[in-house]
Amino acid sequence: MKTILHVVGARPNFMKAAPVWDAIQRFDKFKQILVHTGQHYDNMMSEIFFTELNLPLPKYNLDVGSGSHAQQTALIMTKLEKVLLVVKPDLVIVYGDVNSTVAASLVCSKISIPLAHVEAGLRSFDRRMPEEINRLVTDQLADYLFTPSEDGDLNLKNEGIKSDKIFFVGNVMIDTLIKLKTLAEMPEIFSELNEYILVTLHRPSNVDNINNLESIISNLLEISKTNPVVFPVHPRTKHVLQKCNINYHNHQNFYLIDPLGYLQFLGLIKNAKAVITDSGGIQEETTWLGIPCITVRENTERPITITVGTNQLIGLAYSKMPQTVNNLTKKTEHKIPPLWDGKAADRIADIIKNHLLD
Ligand code: UD1
Repeated sequence: MKTILHVVGARPNFMKAAPVWDAIQRFDKFKQILVHTGQHYDNMMSEIFFTELNLPLPKYNLDVGSGSHAQQTALIMTKLEKVLLVVKPDLVIVYGDVNSTVAASLVCSKISIPLAHVEAGLRSFDRRMPEEINRLVTDQLADYLFTPSEDGDLNLKNEGIKSDKIFFVGNVMIDTLIKLKTLAEMPEIFSELNEYILVTLHRPSNVDNINNLESIISNLLEISKTNPVVFPVHPRTKHVLQKCNINYHNHQNFYLIDPLGYLQFLGLIKNAKAVITDSGGIQEETTWLGIPCITVRENTERPITITVGTNQLIGLAYSKMPQTVNNLTKKTEHKIPPLWDGKAADRIADIIKNHLLD
């Protein structure tokens, strides 16, 4: 029996880990253990996803909570090291690009535990983003690098990573989407809305500065004159929003709501006229679903969502948002990137089995 330990911590990790856990569960030669770092801890940022995605409850919760990058990363490392020294897993799997991912990778490599990175190779080439640093470090340390798209393979090879560690497997987030899309249902109160624009914004570059956030809100209010706007607000954004000097209350067609679970949020994406976002995963989900995505960033680590998918970057010029929404044309061609087929996790499990058991 080999032991595989998964480390998750923040909202976008959960929908990536769920299909990989299930795919490995097919084999009876593996014992699996889930560790939650506690980076995200609100019910709507964490617990609800365990229920909806049918993820087992974590055997260990490190309860690290919020803090500066250094504090959060260091606390995860200190607490995870203790768990790993007791469990002594044969493989640790980490997901995506959050602080929990890099913290776990550093611990594993220092105590020589083999490490697999799911969603390896993505690069924005923008080191001002904490996620880019997390991706670069994690990929240097990982023994198995599972990429969602072939640009990832190229980036890794350009950074000197040996080809025999790189596996192009496809997109595990899309595995979850394909599995659960028929259960996705938008909140009842929005069921009558037509042609609405769904918004999610939480990147430090957009929301930490109050002037930026005020400009975002006034441009979204402008959009709401022609299209309803639905904006589930991330806790990070909420903190700054509370200090904004713009009156965004009591505006018809402008709905600021709490974060939603996976199924309700997916329901809202499926039926939206377009999504305005700075998230990584949502660029992928809209591409698969054929929904126009307007990304409020200067770059993306997911270029395939532009070259193949429905994504476009508008930079941080917030005044472009209303104009871009107005210029949207009806959906035409709708292509899906290679291996975004619902089977990425099965490929990962097969590769792990072949390497760990043979
Ligand atoms: C993290 C990830 C980001 C990901 C995002 C998804 C890093 C560096 N960033 O950003 O890549 O897109 O998660 O949500 O790992 N907070 C709460 N409750 C929670 C979690 C956070 O109130 O459950 C608040 C806290 O005030 C905290 C702030 O949100 O300080 C930011 O949380 P943090 O985990 O540091 O980063 P995110 O912005 O969520």
